[in-house]
Amino acid sequence: MAIEWSAEVGEFHLRNDLVSYVVRVLENNWLGHVYFGPALAGGKSYGHLVPGEFYGFSNRLGQPVPLEYPSGGAGDYRIPALAIELPNGSGVLDLQYKSHRVTHGKPSLAGLPATYVEVGGEAETLEILMGDHIADIEVRLLYTIYRDRPVVVRSARIANTGKSPVIVRCAMSASLDIPDSELQLLTLSGEWARECHVERLDLRPGRQSVSSSRGASGHQHNPFVALARPETTEATGEAIGLSLAYSGSFVAEAEVEAFGTTRLRTGINPDGFSWLLDAGDEFTTPEAILAYSAGGLGGLSDAYHSLFRERMVRGAWRDRARPVVINNWEATYFDFDEPKLLAIANAAKDMGVELFVLDDGWFGRRNDDTTSLGDWQVNLAKLPGGIESLARQIEAIGMRFGIWIEPEMVSGRSDLYAEHPDWAIGIPSRPHTESRNQLVLDMSRPEVVNHLFDVLSTVLGSAPISYVKWDMNRNITEPFSTTLPAWRQGEFMHRYILGVYELYDRLTKAFPGILFESCAGGGGRFDPGMLAFAPQAWTSDNTDAIERLKIQWGTSLVYPLSSMAAHVSAVPNHQVGRVEPLSTRAAVAFFGVFGYELDPTKLSPEERAEVAEQVTFYKKWRDLFQRGRFVRLRSPFEGERDEVAWMTVAADARSAIVAHYRILSRPNSGPQRLRLRGLDPAATYRVATWSSDAQAEDAPTTAVDLGGDELMAAGLVFEASRESTEGDFRARLYVLEAI
Ligand code: GLA
Repeated sequence: MAIEWSAEVGEFHLRNDLVSYVVRVLENNWLGHVYFGPALAGGKSYGHLVPGEFYGFSNRLGQPVPLEYPSGGAGDYRIPALAIELPNGSGVLDLQYKSHRVTHGKPSLAGLPATYVEVGGEAETLEILMGDHIADIEVRLLYTIYRDRPVVVRSARIANTGKSPVIVRCAMSASLDIPDSELQLLTLSGEWARECHVERLDLRPGRQSVSSSRGASGHQHNPFVALARPETTEATGEAIGLSLAYSGSFVAEAEVEAFGTTRLRTGINPDGFSWLLDAGDEFTTPEAILAYSAGGLGGLSDAYHSLFRERMVRGAWRDRARPVVINNWEATYFDFDEPKLLAIANAAKDMGVELFVLDDGWFGRRNDDTTSLGDWQVNLAKLPGGIESLARQIEAIGMRFGIWIEPEMVSGRSDLYAEHPDWAIGIPSRPHTESRNQLVLDMSRPEVVNHLFDVLSTVLGSAPISYVKWDMNRNITEPFSTTLPAWRQGEFMHRYILGVYELYDRLTKAFPGILFESCAGGGGRFDPGMLAFAPQAWTSDNTDAIERLKIQWGTSLVYPLSSMAAHVSAVPNHQVGRVEPLSTRAAVAFFGVFGYELDPTKLSPEERAEVAEQVTFYKKWRDLFQRGRFVRLRSPFEGERDEVAWMTVAADARSAIVAHYRILSRPNSGPQRLRLRGLDPAATYRVATWSSDAQAEDAPTTAVDLGGDELMAAGLVFEASRESTEGDFRARLYVLEAI
């Protein structure tokens, strides 16, 4: 890893063995983008890649000069990275290179989640200072390259060095100019209960983007896009990923201009955003993580998984095995009391489950979703001994205890709202739009964050609580803070999420032993920013195994298995009414942080025995399911879409678990080969099928010894014809152990 600077030619080369990123000071001192891709040799100039005719043009009108941090208004008509309203109302900047410095390690970003280093030697950071010779604006571009990851992490700091305020209207985290547009844009899009569906379309002239203006990253689009070649597959071909470590309103956008080049940018959504920068003040953007893969989308996922697992997630739970949980939400909804919860916990404990999560409904007068958010005092009618008594009884049977909270919300019918109606977000003269009968607290106000810290600290300190599910069930409407002046209202959405981060930061530091799981009606805020505080997230409110194939496949493009909570729920499924075998439900939920979301007291003795088998199996292979390399084999978004396959492989490739899911049974189909990936070609693997269903027929490949080379090149043979009589929604699991 190195950051080379050649003063002679004015070129920076950030490189490691996997990638190179080259930036050049152009003749007019603009900062030009030269290259991002596979590693190039050091000690050379690549300036000729930026065609000479661009140089020396004082007028860049219409020319697609590749730039590192472009602004508009002076001939670059593409999407800008930076837009600032200057004291005279104009918005034109001419940012020129001033100086730079290279440091070991990586600085943290004030108030924002970011990747980090543990030792200085694992990364280097380049900080380039740019300034405008007319306007008093300085921009610091930060680039970090890690020793052994195919990623470049970027952010920007914008400073007002003048004497009058200016208004930042757009400040991207990263902008990347790519020399062609033979690319497809891949996004993870959907809605509540169908998050992260993979969409992939050819780029075309013009702008194509995904964004959120909700105050959260949202169910609709994840803050991630990839550009892939049309021929790129899971295992082969080029892809560039752009992920944003931000949990609020964002944009991720590509623009193809007339010369066929592509500009890619991501950052805080400029729609509805403005930030008043007083004289001497600075604004720091969130962090963007660029990744490059020549090994297909799978290579991109490998890069993001290890980076997020090792250098975004932090705290005691980063490297710890995550417990198997039982959550009472789908078992009871709001209708529970202490005996009912204890019965669920006891039954789950008998089946090997390790942690009981008390979901919504334990506080205030909350017997349905119309009341009590904000009143974080236990409902003694339901739990007469309080949280403490329940938690102690759960601990006494040998389980850990966890609790649900939704800190950012307030119900119109609540003591908190009665006392502080002005703490709810809204424009005083307008009606406040309710969603799920609730309003959102103004997290931009320090007194709100302080209050929440105090009341939640009281709850979390009152009992042996090992886990917290932090929910967020609606998006922001009528964005406005009564404490901000008119000219600062454009800052509200960003200030809101900074307040959320502050509360998360304080609570996770005050309770370092607690495992936090983020949730926003499922995956409505599943983003890298949240991972900096909560190592795992509730992937979706949709617990149907077949639906989860798509959701978990899409989510896994960016996020590691250790971050994706997945639970087995009852049938008929509560979201789609589908009935799937218990073994299939587990075979999907195994690939992530596993648990149950059902009433175990209602299971038959046979089903209980089967659940116990599943829990034992998961515990045995927990490390593989939570920390293995996830390899996607057959996509639910391609082909006939009635079969899916994926696998997880140990870091040393000595073991792997492969899953094949047959969605609809197919009549009279022949034998099939499933080509695996990521194994050791020189190893021989003992391949055994596994099913929690004692009645399941053994597949023909039971415990055979096969070479890694064969399994990858020729494939694992399974007799699909058997499946035709098994019925719909079948799963097969294969355990591979090197011998
Ligand atoms: C959201 C969550 C669910 C559950 C409910 C409780 O929908 O995603 O898992 O916690 O809230 O109200």
